[in-house]
Amino acid sequence: MTDRSASAEYSNDTSPLAASGLLAKLGATIPLVSAPMAGGPSTPALVLAAAEAGGLGMLAGGYKSPKQLAEQITEVSTGISTIGANLFGVNLFAPNPVPIDKDAFVEYTEALRELAATYDLSLNEVEALEDDDEWAEKVDMLVSDPVPVVSFTFGLPPAEAVRRLQKAGSLVFQTVTKPDEAQQAADLGVDGLVVQSYKAGGHSGTLTPGTPIEQIPLAQLLDRVRSRTTLPMWAAGGISTPNAVREALAHGAEAAVLGSVLLRSDESGASKPYKAALADPRRTETVLTTAFSGRPARALRNDFVDQFHGAAPSGYPAIHHLTSPIRKAAAAANDSENINIWAGTGYRDATEEPTVVIMRRLAAVR
Ligand SMILES: Cc1cc2nc3c(=O)[nH]c(=O)nc-3n(C[C@H](O)[C@H](O)[C@H](O)COP(=O)(O)O)c2cc1C
Repeated sequence: MTDRSASAEYSNDTSPLAASGLLAKLGATIPLVSAPMAGGPSTPALVLAAAEAGGLGMLAGGYKSPKQLAEQITEVSTGISTIGANLFGVNLFAPNPVPIDKDAFVEYTEALRELAATYDLSLNEVEALEDDDEWAEKVDMLVSDPVPVVSFTFGLPPAEAVRRLQKAGSLVFQTVTKPDEAQQAADLGVDGLVVQSYKAGGHSGTLTPGTPIEQIPLAQLLDRVRSRTTLPMWAAGGISTPNAVREALAHGAEAAVLGSVLLRSDESGASKPYKAALADPRRTETVLTTAFSGRPARALRNDFVDQFHGAAPSGYPAIHHLTSPIRKAAAAANDSENINIWAGTGYRDATEEPTVVIMRRLAAVR
């Protein structure tokens, strides 16, 4: 089915969408989830706004220290008690490292040296950093201070971590990008799947980051995953219109996950140059690239992509840490050419509005 016929098929229905399944049990009224977006966009305010809209908001635990994450959880828990429903969750990066080849690291460092110097950054004596994002500490924290939903991306967690979180009262979701991955997650005993298509903004949740991302349309991916497991599916990737939400639900999804379409919202913590780039008519193309982090991620094309996409090796998190100071310096200088403008294919539909307004529109709630 092409995108065009899909939109024709769903465009006549304007009845409001209602939550069902696990999401309804948690207290949601609409079948929408605000995506975890690490690196700043998913603020506690965005998560609270998603819950206020009647959906569920996901905090991004990636790149934060356990202490920073705990502070954000406290802020959301406090705010959410006034909404009266437990409509939030926390996402973590489950370790699935792609160790960097030493020579490739040195070569890429050399390639970046001149650009780094333009921001007064020296890449001398930089070493490959292979950390695990304080994974075990964050899981321990979520076990002792549970949240309604915990989701994982990048890798499959050990079964023991899933059991501990479930015993503590959390529903556990796993991001998958292929039917085989869905099977692996089902075998692990998770409660639900985030089924993410190649159109998604930011990092792909692929379990095999060293191999090319398969370009399976979301509707077809949902059908194929459904033929392998009956687990609840939350659909993600390129969903930015009411029709796309309806199409995902028609293909068995319990909810649609919204990422890029919320990046310019009032509550999004995306940086100023990031928000501006998303609305810049000169930026017309998204690319799946390892240039920023060594792991495939979809970003708007800019100078950095043009210069380094071809040269970038696989290697996560070493390449993420290597390019991070450059990206931070570029953001501080309001320079969108050298930041990672993570964006899914629906980025053009991202608007400068309150999250509640965007989410209600996508669920056709007036
Ligand atoms: C800026 C940004 C950061 C993201 N960070 C995470 C993350 O920390 N964890 C995660 O599971 N997915 C992350 N994603 C992917 C989203 O959760 C979601 O799958 C994706 O945004 C859906 O596709 P869309 O952007 O086309 O709506 C990120 C996406 C973006 C745009």
